[in-house]
Parts: sequence; structure tokens; C-alpha cells
Amino acid sequence: MFTHPTDGTLKHIAFIMDGNGRWAKKRGMPREFGHTEGTKAFRRIAEYCFRGGIETVTIYAFSTENWKRPQNEVAAIMSLFRSYLSLGMEEMAKNDIQITFLGDKSPLAPDVRAQMEKLERESAGNRWHLNVAINYGGRAEIVSAVNRLAASGVTEFTEDAISDAIYTSGQRDPDLIVRSAGELRLSNFLTWQSVYSELYFTDTLWPDFDEADVDAAVAAYYERTRRFGGV
Ligand code: FPP
Repeated sequence: MFTHPTDGTLKHIAFIMDGNGRWAKKRGMPREFGHTEGTKAFRRIAEYCFRGGIETVTIYAFSTENWKRPQNEVAAIMSLFRSYLSLGMEEMAKNDIQITFLGDKSPLAPDVRAQMEKLERESAGNRWHLNVAINYGGRAEIVSAVNRLAASGVTEFTEDAISDAIYTSGQRDPDLIVRSAGELRLSNFLTWQSVYSELYFTDTLWPDFDEADVDAAVAAYYERTRRFGGV
């Protein structure tokens, strides 16, 4: 288990869970199998972070661009998500985890949306915070926030007003963003929130991502000095 220095600042880790498809392909299995295993890894990792005192964990489950994937893969991810809502996430909510979904729910199936809203309602105020980004795009998030502010009559757009109008309203920005599977980019994830986040990349494919990978990412974080533009 990782530890924090007494003045530790690491309270929010966000994960880009990449490499499910490659992991499955290496085993001669369909990509969907990688997503199933990736879902198991996500829960193990989120719960490990909370046990280590990380207050907020954010995961990138499905981006606004992921609809471009083959239809059967999109269907498989949505079906995993649907079953996980009523199994894993219900249990997580009972374990004092607040669940918030980041993204535009409107294109999702009505039963899925209803279940997401129920989970958000029932888990509100819980100790630990899990954000699940689904049908999420960082630019779309900013555009929709600005449009909503404009529609409500706001004419001066301040950073505070935009921070309050995006999906993570009231939350701390991620201190650390971790991406698995060797790609070195953020892919439209937490565009507004990531400006001062530390970034950590590893070659581990997401279904193999384990507690030791979290420990390594946390250790790397605490070796860095965050200056937020100061000296
Ligand atoms: C990236 O791997 C993974 C995704 C785009 C989907 C992640 C989705 C899940 C883990 C399941 C749904 C989530 C929940 C919370 C139940 P990739 O397919 O891009 O891998 P590749 O780069 O190797 O092709």
C-alpha cells in the first residue's frame, strides 16, 4: 500500500484505461473480452486508491469519439456498463462511495440513464468519490457549460463560473492523471481540469494494471514539485 508524506497533496487521481483491445488481441480473444477484464481492473484499482486515502478517482469509460468504434464493440461496452451499473456500482455506493457521471447522458438508453441518475441520487454525500466519464469529451464539456451560462443570461465568463458549470462542479481538479498502454496523450479527457495535473504514463495494458502500478504512479507523483506557475 502506498503512503503519503505528512503534507501529501495527492487527493484525486484520474485514469485513462487504455489497452483493453491490445490485451485481448495478445491472447487471441475478441476486444470485448479485454473490456470485461478492464472493468474488473477498474473496480480493484478504484477501491485500492480509496483505501490509500485518495478521496476522488475519475475513470474514462467512454469518450464522445468512442461511438466511431465498430457497432458490436460499442454495444458490448454499453452492455458491460449497463450490467455493471446494477452490480458493481450499486455495491460501491453501499460502501460509502459517491458516484458521479461526467458526460452527456442524453444519447444513452433511457433505462441506463434512469439507473445512472438513481445511483447519483442514492450515493450523494458518501465519503469517497468516483467519477465515471461516459460519453464524455473535454471540449464538449466546456462548450456546453458556456452555452448554459449564456442561456441563463451570464455575459461575463469567468474561470470560476465555467468551473462551476462543468460536470465536475465543486470538485478538486485531478492532481495526477495516469494513462496505461503506452500512449502519451490526454485524448480530450478533463481538458479544463487538467491544466496543472501531473501526468504519468505506463506501458502496462489496462487489464494488467494492478496495485503495484498505482504505487509506482503515486511514488512518481511525490517525487515531483508542483509549482502551479510559481517558482
Ligand atoms: C480503452 O482500451 C478502453 C475503452 C475505450 C473502454 C473502457 C471501458 C471499460 C473498461 C468498460 C466500461 C466501463 C465501466 C465503468 C463498466 P482500447 O479498447 O482503446 O484498447 P486498445 O488501445 O488496445 O485498442
